[in-house]
Amino acid sequence: MMNIEKLTSIHKPAMRALVEAVHQEQGLLAQFYWPNDLLGAELATAEAVGVFSNGHLAGFILYRELDRAWEISLVASHPKFRRQGLMEQLFLHLIAAKGHQRELWLEVHEENVAAQKLYEKLGFKEVRRRPRYYKDGGSAILYTRL
Ligand SMILES: CC(C)(COP(=O)(O)OP(=O)(O)OC[C@H]1O[C@@H](n2cnc3c(N)ncnc32)[C@H](O)[C@@H]1OP(=O)(O)O)[C@@H](O)C(=O)NCCC(=O)NCCS
Repeated sequence: MMNIEKLTSIHKPAMRALVEAVHQEQGLLAQFYWPNDLLGAELATAEAVGVFSNGHLAGFILYRELDRAWEISLVASHPKFRRQGLMEQLFLHLIAAKGHQRELWLEVHEENVAAQKLYEKLGFKEVRRRPRYYKDGGSAILYTRL
């Protein structure tokens, strides 16, 4: 069973565990760089929505309200729950809930093809690139969804 919920401070341990599982899978890559201090600061200030599979947190999105847009700061699904369409469902929920008010903005490392495919499937469009944005020298692609 799949369900989508707004996440609160009681979900922080599960969010931290999920990020830890992603780091264990791929290492602390520039394209997904969330050491504890950065993650703690983001969890303290961003809004969160998550998708659950049989009660387990399968993925979540952190986002914040800007003047003109919702800025998405973190997108992750647990390695055990990939390619089941769960992040796509979660994004569609967020778009339905928030997308009529403001644009959605996010950025992705140029080498993170899985994430780019997800965003393009959802109708995000590349608006520009920020050269050498990441600490490994990779460029950021900025995507928006109107
Ligand atoms: C990117 C990420 C969030 C995708 O999560 P997911 O749970 O696998 O996503 P979904 O199952 O909902 O995939 C939906 C669509 O995204 C695209 N997609 C997802 N993973 C893909 C991959 N490895 N290769 C190609 N396309 C991919 C596909 O179009 C897919 O649809 P399809 O399965 O019908 O082809 C996940 O791989 C992840 O957490 N990666 C590590 C953290 C990260 O990079 N976060 C993004 C930082 S910007």
